[in-house]
Amino acid sequence: GNREAVVAFKNMYEAAKKEGLGLVINSSYRSYQDQENICNTFKDLYGEGYVTKYVALPGFSEHQTGLAFDVGSIDNNYGNTAGGKWLANNCYKYGFIIRYPKGKQNITGYQYEPWHIRYLGNPLATEVHNSGLCLEEYLGI
Ligand code: DAL
Ligand code: ZN
Repeated sequence: GNREAVVAFKNMYEAAKKEGLGLVINSSYRSYQDQENICNTFKDLYGEGYVTKYVALPGFSEHQTGLAFDVGSIDNNYGNTAGGKWLANNCYKYGFIIRYPKGKQNITGYQYEPWHIRYLGNPLATEVHNSGLCLEEYLGI
């Protein structure tokens, strides 16, 4: 992944660990080929509908930038777990945002993904967090 983002993730990981929470990375940097493989695997497993809602096409995934991390479990319930709540409440301090928030799928193009964080650095991540907006709304794009 991106070096600055990895350092920020490490700092966040250490802070969560002090509070007894493990932030497991399930996925971070992906190549074009990786993203294509993911699309094909999920299409085989869950069908086209799932891929459209949750997976970016190759060439269009934030994971290809090295700035995105999937943390904890790739599961909608992750947002209700201690780790998922901590992530949502604290990741901005380390320069990350929950990139695909609940209720914003019409704007972001993706369903709520409590596990997917995107590195923006600070102060931007804090500003986006405090605004309550998703990144597209905040940037006005
Ligand atoms: N799950 C996100 C949208 C991605 O594939 O980049
Ligand atoms: Zn992701």
